[in-house]
Amino acid sequence: MSIFQELTNRDQVFEFLAPVQSPVDVRHGPILYMEDVSVSFDGFKAINNLNLTIDDGELRCIIGPNGAGKTTMMDIITGKTRPDTGSVWFGSRHNLLTMNEPDIATLGIGRKFQKPTVFEALTVFENLELAMATDKRIFPTLTATMKPEYRERIEEVLEMIGLKDLRNAPAGILSHGQKQWLEIGMLLMQKPRLLLVDEPVAGMTEQEMERTAELLTSLAGKQSVVVVEHDMGFVRSIARKVTVLHQGSVLAEGSMDQVSNDPEVVKVYLGEEA
Ligand SMILES: Nc1ncnc2c1ncn2[C@@H]1O[C@H](COP(=O)(O)OP(=O)(O)O)[C@@H](O)[C@H]1O
Ligand SMILES: [Mg+2]
Repeated sequence: MSIFQELTNRDQVFEFLAPVQSPVDVRHGPILYMEDVSVSFDGFKAINNLNLTIDDGELRCIIGPNGAGKTTMMDIITGKTRPDTGSVWFGSRHNLLTMNEPDIATLGIGRKFQKPTVFEALTVFENLELAMATDKRIFPTLTATMKPEYRERIEEVLEMIGLKDLRNAPAGILSHGQKQWLEIGMLLMQKPRLLLVDEPVAGMTEQEMERTAELLTSLAGKQSVVVVEHDMGFVRSIARKVTVLHQGSVLAEGSMDQVSNDPEVVKVYLGEEA
């Protein structure tokens, strides 16, 4: 039996929602470190010598034209795609290139895909409950019952995602934006250290976008958040540091004002509109 299994089987696991795996070490460096990462698909370099570091607690926006490699970058971080070369570290202790997808998730990297995948027949509350129940760190067996701390965590998350009043509503009746928040909430149940969010505001109303901006900015500091987004207005509303990806590499990095005035960035975006 591995140390990890042994730990997850012990009662102490129920004492905290905090991850039980060996902690992410960010004492001397960033929470995410990617160096010289490249990957080719049939000879086409989707990611080309990518260098990226994300600090602990940072909210980073990644922008870039279609095909820039944004989704592929997330695939690499989460272990879905293996790069041909380069290194990817989570804190200074975990070499993500030696780990598989489930283990990387367990380490505390949560990913929100573009399409919401909530369970429509279940209530908002039940969806959050389920997100916790499927977390092997917390419920090693399906027969485990929910402790008050977990109810508290659900309450906390309901508050964060603004769905308190809809807790008993079936998720199927939620608006598109509310479903997206619920899905972010499902990821938050597991208190990820790093949250990757791919195009969160696609298809949202103006008001929903504002709420999403509030939600994501409220998470910063507590966890690191990487947001890939196409909507420039939205990025401007939440951005601190922005990374522009182009042809699989970093084209520019800095404040929104800095990057949007960068002649190379302007060229790439004008090219896209043409
Ligand atoms: N599994 C794959 N097989 C072949 N080509 C892929 C694969 N995944 C991505 N690509 C290609 O890599 C490039 C980058 O894609 P992607 O990461 O989805 O860009 P973005 O998310 O920035 O729009 C695109 O040209 C895409 O067609
Ligand atoms: Mg994409």
